[in-house]
Amino acid sequence: MTGTYRELSGDIQDKLKANLSAQRYKHILGVEETALTIASYYNLSPEKLSLAALLHDFAKYYTVQELMDYCHEENIPLDPIETDNHGLLHGKVARSIASKVYHIHDQDILNAITSHTTGRPDMSDYEKVLYVADYCDPSRNLPSSASIIEMAKTNLSKAVFQVVSEKLTYVIRCGKTIHPRSLEVYNRYLSPNFSDPTDPIDSY
Ligand SMILES: [Fe+2]
Ligand SMILES: [Fe+2]
Repeated sequence: MTGTYRELSGDIQDKLKANLSAQRYKHILGVEETALTIASYYNLSPEKLSLAALLHDFAKYYTVQELMDYCHEENIPLDPIETDNHGLLHGKVARSIASKVYHIHDQDILNAITSHTTGRPDMSDYEKVLYVADYCDPSRNLPSSASIIEMAKTNLSKAVFQVVSEKLTYVIRCGKTIHPRSLEVYNRYLSPNFSDPTDPIDSY
């Protein structure tokens, strides 16, 4: 990372404001605020989470063709579902931009950016916080947001399980393909120490 956190954060926000819709920019600030609220209950760096939140949807203004071209030019590997469901590409592209344009090489930040779309089974706490905060941003007006944020303050894994469950339900309702990583996240956070089949969430 070059420059101070404040300089970097300011540069990124200027770029976001110039390229993203007002609604998307509001979402990004909502994700940042939510991530910092949750992070304050853990021993996590607020600067790292702030940068991850600011950059997570950086590539949202790219067209599908631009996303595909970027991945091709930078040799970013895509699986068949990502090639088919372009909504999943922006996390990988944002990670690459964070590294190449903003010279961010911290794995906590980069992994959180990549994982915010599908999650992954062995997420760090930084990844979990951003994954949950992206879903619970107040500007989405989801009925479960407040309760999931409260859950995240005491148990990040419970909150991840709740988010992936709701995301999968939504994807199925929309008739879209499910990325195997999301299913792996569901199984990973459902199964460890599974003891009470009537209350899987409270089993870990
Ligand atoms: Fe996103
Ligand atoms: Fe987002």
